[in-house]
Amino acid sequence: MIAIYPGSFDPVTNGHINIARRSAAIMERLIVAVLDNPHKTPLFSVDERVAMLREVFCNDSNIEVDVFSGLLVSYAGMKGINAIVRGLRGPDDLQNELPYAIWNRQLSLGLAKPLETMYFTAEPAFAHISGSIVKEVAAHIYQGGLDDKIISQAVPAVVLTALKDKYSASRMQ
Ligand code: PNS
Repeated sequence: MIAIYPGSFDPVTNGHINIARRSAAIMERLIVAVLDNPHKTPLFSVDERVAMLREVFCNDSNIEVDVFSGLLVSYAGMKGINAIVRGLRGPDDLQNELPYAIWNRQLSLGLAKPLETMYFTAEPAFAHISGSIVKEVAAHIYQGGLDDKIISQAVPAVVLTALKDKYSASRMQ
């Protein structure tokens, strides 16, 4: 089975990494795919997000990192993907995810391999982590010159350095 784990990954967190590795453990291949969304203004460019993901997964032999734009099902059809992986941190995630799964299933019915969405429940240690909250807290910590231990527990080292660079630079201005 070839699966895709799509997302914004702005930035990748320890929660995403946990879901990617747990799903890759039961798949032949997992493609972690960054959505290049022209309607959003991310903190990190697509190239920066991809570079951080590639560094994180450089020793995971069946995980690759790619970028997609447009409909997820079109990219999935092109790559021969069978399943979509998403993480669930709580009931709100399920509520948000369900319509996407139904749309993606219906949109993919014309493909050689219609898509299934598979959900992985977040480990309790990661259930409070999201890219948005990490960015919000990191901005206050780095702009205020505070201890970043709490951020280091939520993201990999490469992201910690990148957040520090972005927000400490804005502190100087
Ligand atoms: O990390 P995110 O922002 O929650 O990821 C959302 C994502 C990328 C999975 C979702 O927005 C997506 O798949 N977008 C691609 C466009 C698409 O296929 N839309 C129709 C699905 S209903």
